[in-house]
Amino acid sequence: MASGPEKPLLRALAGEPLSRPPWWLMRQAGRYLPEYRAIRAKAKDFVELCLTPALAAEVTLQPVKRYLMDGAILFSDILLVPHALGQKLTFREGEGPILEPIENSSSIAGLDPSQVVPRLEPVFETIGRVAASLGPHTALIGFAGAPWTVATYMVEGGSSRDFRRVKSWAYRDAEGFDALIGILVDSTTKFLTAQIEAGAEVVQLFDTWAGVLPETAFGRWVIEPTRSIVAALKQRFPDHPIIGFPRGAGLLYERYITETGVDGIGLDTMVPAGYARERLQPLATVQGNLDPILLITGGSFLETGVRDLRRLLGDGSFVFNLGHGVLPETPPENVEALARLLAEPIATT
Ligand code: CP3
Repeated sequence: MASGPEKPLLRALAGEPLSRPPWWLMRQAGRYLPEYRAIRAKAKDFVELCLTPALAAEVTLQPVKRYLMDGAILFSDILLVPHALGQKLTFREGEGPILEPIENSSSIAGLDPSQVVPRLEPVFETIGRVAASLGPHTALIGFAGAPWTVATYMVEGGSSRDFRRVKSWAYRDAEGFDALIGILVDSTTKFLTAQIEAGAEVVQLFDTWAGVLPETAFGRWVIEPTRSIVAALKQRFPDHPIIGFPRGAGLLYERYITETGVDGIGLDTMVPAGYARERLQPLATVQGNLDPILLITGGSFLETGVRDLRRLLGDGSFVFNLGHGVLPETPPENVEALARLLAEPIATT
């Protein structure tokens, strides 16, 4: 392919403006789809679903079959890395993830990055299966959690309101906490390398909790680990685009892009499109950022929201997405309406 990429998502991530933005949605596979709930009921638990290639591949393809997105995101979870490092992980219905918390530098001794790729072998098999059945226009997106966000779950033992434990450890014992982040940089690099080798054409780093850190800590535990992962992947796969999603980074989005070297930047719902157009789009392909609640309500606010984003961002390099994941209450017909809106020719006035 000497003439460069053909798939719209890859073209946009290479910096090309397209008259219709390529699109995919974070959490596009999931509980809002009845066919997902049917498969989910067959698996013993959520981790088993992620690690059963036939089922995970089927679930990955479900939204793409319905809506013909330009990207198929691997069905998996960011917490499979701690699971593969040897930390016990369960998902309780309605409660989210539960991990046995890691509390200090002595409890990280048992975590072994060399086990991550062998233990996550089923994920690479899922990627191979999806790659073999995708149409010629859809790109396969692999992903991992960024070290900071994964560390929050590992230290808090699950979701958190104020991140008190993980921040206290980081501020009290920065070198000790760096050791945990270092293990995650190493594991994540190996995991994403193996995903690309298996057939992922794009990878996204989810840093869901990037926005809870003040600037100095953001530089050390969001930017620096991401920069090392990006540099390692770029050295090996210079043509594979990397999208970073530092949710909530606010005024630090700009630094994040220039210092990490990502090709695409995932914008959360709060980033103003006019700001993104002026300050971020010249630095990277922007991706986002429709409010996921608009996809629940539908109707004229959804239409206006989509048209405004296309008008403001659509004449530069742009990938349409939500500002966070699809919510379980989303009516599938609203995603259908979104697909139709995105197929309309661009209205620039
Ligand atoms: O985007 C996709 O469609 C691919 C699949 C995907 C899942 N999780 C499936 C999932 C992706 C990319 C993720 C990422 C993920 N996982 C993040 C980062 C993005 C974000 O949403 O902020 C985070 C923080 C997690 C951790 C996680 N996994 C939590 C907190 C939960 C529980 C909350 C919930 O929605 O139930 C999960 C479970 C999970 N991961 C589900 C799905 C479809 C729901 C599990 C179920 O079906 O019961």
